[in-house]
Amino acid sequence: MDTQIDQDLGSKIRNARLPSMSRPKHVRKAKILVFASGKGGVGKTSLSVNLALWGAHAGHNVLLIDGDLGMADAHALLGITPHANLSQLFSHEVPLKDIIIDTHYGLKFISGGSGLAEMASLCVHWIISIVLWKI
Ligand SMILES: Nc1ncnc2c1ncn2[C@@H]1O[C@H](COP(=O)(O)OP(=O)(O)OP(=O)(O)O)[C@@H](O)[C@H]1O
Ligand SMILES: [Mg+2]
Repeated sequence: MDTQIDQDLGSKIRNARLPSMSRPKHVRKAKILVFASGKGGVGKTSLSVNLALWGAHAGHNVLLIDGDLGMADAHALLGITPHANLSQLFSHEVPLKDIIIDTHYGLKFISGGSGLAEMASLCVHWIISIVLWKI
């Protein structure tokens, strides 16, 4: 198989935009923290789940999105079995409101998925843009 490395992939991801999407005013005030790494097992999930719990406990309105579409596991740390996740949203099976889980910790949560190879090619920026646009 001829595998070519896209040398310009980094700039494409940084410049990725969804031109037809305009965000509601309240979304502009939201602070968005993204934890990502090319290396696995470095603590992305542990850090983001614990930080989200801390924020909710401190009285902030927090929505934790597990953007892992390969082997999402933030729900396991939260002790939740999600009834739906990002894959149902992207495939238009359910509206956004139906995949947002109100946890017992005062934290809102959207679960990622497992084995969603085609969706794993979506960059984090696009995932956040799509979710924010639908809120
Ligand atoms: N600060 C830390 N100190 C020690 N161990 C940690 C720390 N953060 C995470 N771990 C451990 O490292 C392992 C991987 O952590 P975690 O799942 O958060 O990483 P990840 O970057 O989300 O992994 P993946 O790329 O597989 O999604 C877990 O067993 C976790 O308990
Ligand atoms: Mg992880």
